[in-house]
Amino acid sequence: MTLPAIECRNLNKIWNAQSHAPLQTLKDVSFCVGRGELNVLLGPSGCGKSTLLYLIAGLDEPSSGQLLCDGEPLQGPSPERGMIFQEAALYPWLNILDNVGFGLSLQGIGKAARNAKAMELLEAVGLQPFWDKKPSELSGGMRQRAAMARALCMNPKVLMMDEPFAALDIQTRSKMQDYLIALWQRSQASILLVTHSIEEAIGLADNILVFTSRPGRIKTQIKVELPRPRNPRDPAFHQLQDHLADLMADEVNRAFAEQESAHF
Ligand SMILES: Nc1ncnc2c1ncn2[C@@H]1O[C@H](COP(=O)(O)OP(=O)(O)O)[C@@H](O)[C@H]1O
Ligand SMILES: [Mg+2]
Repeated sequence: MTLPAIECRNLNKIWNAQSHAPLQTLKDVSFCVGRGELNVLLGPSGCGKSTLLYLIAGLDEPSSGQLLCDGEPLQGPSPERGMIFQEAALYPWLNILDNVGFGLSLQGIGKAARNAKAMELLEAVGLQPFWDKKPSELSGGMRQRAAMARALCMNPKVLMMDEPFAALDIQTRSKMQDYLIALWQRSQASILLVTHSIEEAIGLADNILVFTSRPGRIKTQIKVELPRPRNPRDPAFHQLQDHLADLMADEVNRAFAEQESAHF
């Protein structure tokens, strides 16, 4: 049996644990990300999704519980676990070819090999004709495509994406999802993507982990077995959308009620 790429066992995270106002953000979170799988974390705002990605990225430590990467305890950040945020973090002074190949240059890989690999990935996201443009010359969607190419250029075992398409308009978003699937399918990477969009979760995921409102717990896991490319007009897509909307509505209502009682 192959080990999961990531395994979370009974993770808890309490922010400001020593203060007079500790904040339990994650509670007993247990799940596995199988090798090569695309998992989506879906949950209301503030439930701890970004916190969980931070822990898996090794940027912070859980208050209790275990985090394993390929069966070994996870220790700090590693280039094997890449991360992409809502705003593409590209170097403004480099063209996109050099941005995509930047990580390889840090590994001492020569210019010819690095450019060949970077160009291949730019082609996969439709950016090859723009290879010599600076990030400021590109649209937001193009920048985010370059950021995905850059992350996958490093052949990470795991790629984490924190609401990567949330700042883009709806048409661009749906194209971005196609590019992501194309890049992922040619890589060996496992992906853990955070979104609060039900449609995005169904469009992308092998497996959807639905979170409760804070403290975030896994409410349910749903395997999505619809064939790719997924069609939002497919009745099975709609059915799943309704089911997830019901699950999410309970959580959003709970989170609102909590916020309002805290303020009044
Ligand atoms: N570094 C931090 N220190 C203290 N509290 C934090 C920190 N990061 C996040 N939080 C709190 O943890 C809760 C969950 O935040 P977050 O993980 O960003 O949620 P989500 O990504 O699901 O919207 C929020 O109440 C937030 O204020
Ligand atoms: Mg977040």
